[in-house]
Amino acid sequence: MQLGELASGREVAYATMRRLAWSRGPESMRRGFFGVEGLDDLVPDGISYDTQILVEGDTGIGKSVLATQFLYEGLVVGDTCVYIACDEPPDVMRLNMASFRLGTTPYERAGRLIVVDAYARERSRERYSIPDPANLDEFFLYEKRFLEMGGNRPVRLVVDSLSTILSMAETAEIIEFNSNRLRLLRSREVFTLDSAVSAVLEEKAINALRHAYPMIINMRFAVSDGITQRYVQLGKLKSGQFQATQHPFTIDPRTGIVLQSRQA
Ligand SMILES: Nc1ncnc2c1ncn2[C@@H]1O[C@H](COP(=O)(O)OP(=O)(O)OP(=O)(O)O)[C@@H](O)[C@H]1O
Ligand SMILES: [Mg+2]
Repeated sequence: MQLGELASGREVAYATMRRLAWSRGPESMRRGFFGVEGLDDLVPDGISYDTQILVEGDTGIGKSVLATQFLYEGLVVGDTCVYIACDEPPDVMRLNMASFRLGTTPYERAGRLIVVDAYARERSRERYSIPDPANLDEFFLYEKRFLEMGGNRPVRLVVDSLSTILSMAETAEIIEFNSNRLRLLRSREVFTLDSAVSAVLEEKAINALRHAYPMIINMRFAVSDGITQRYVQLGKLKSGQFQATQHPFTIDPRTGIVLQSRQA
């Protein structure tokens, strides 16, 4: 079976249309999408691969579901995807992918999906792991090594969540580590999604992180008409634009994040 056949026809057709849209441009113009139809509509021209996205939000809101869809999209469009699991065992992401009807094993065998266990630490039995991810120098060294495994393909990176590995660090250390890291990711055009639970970090640290990323996604629970609802907001701070609109969404077990305006 070809790798492409692992994803369902609808997803492949949807991704192929978008892939054709950006593949005509030169390499440095490569643009990608989240893999979430309603969210992708908010960035009709896609996002350039030298962009890093901070996904900030409440516990249980859907950050890991979004991360899974971002990886899924990367696999479908031909990227090498590096996934660093910090909050839960890597198998949770594999199961999420399977519930979206994408088996990860062939992609892992082919070196297209590099699953890194930064959760079990030195007890990890995974092929790739980071024994002491809270040591930020060590994390950065391992992360660079895994990114180098991308070969000639475009590379996508997900760190879920960055706040877990930063939770024990001082604000100054966090700023230095992440600015060096973001500089490297930008120069290598690594299309990156870092998730963070803001409550885990000091206000100064989370504010510094917010300013460092060219793109921010906010995911929040809020009560509307007495009903607790999930909302997502897409912001682009660096370019000066910030889309204030909060989009209500739900999570479907088979397709993931569904923006309410997309629901039939
Ligand atoms: N494959 C799935 N299908 C359906 N629902 C799911 C799936 N995976 C997770 N969920 C549900 O989606 C919600 C969001 O889960 P998710 O793990 O993405 O949250 P999170 O923002 O990453 O939380 P945390 O900060 O605890 O990591 C949860 O209510 C969870 O039960
Ligand atoms: Mg999560």
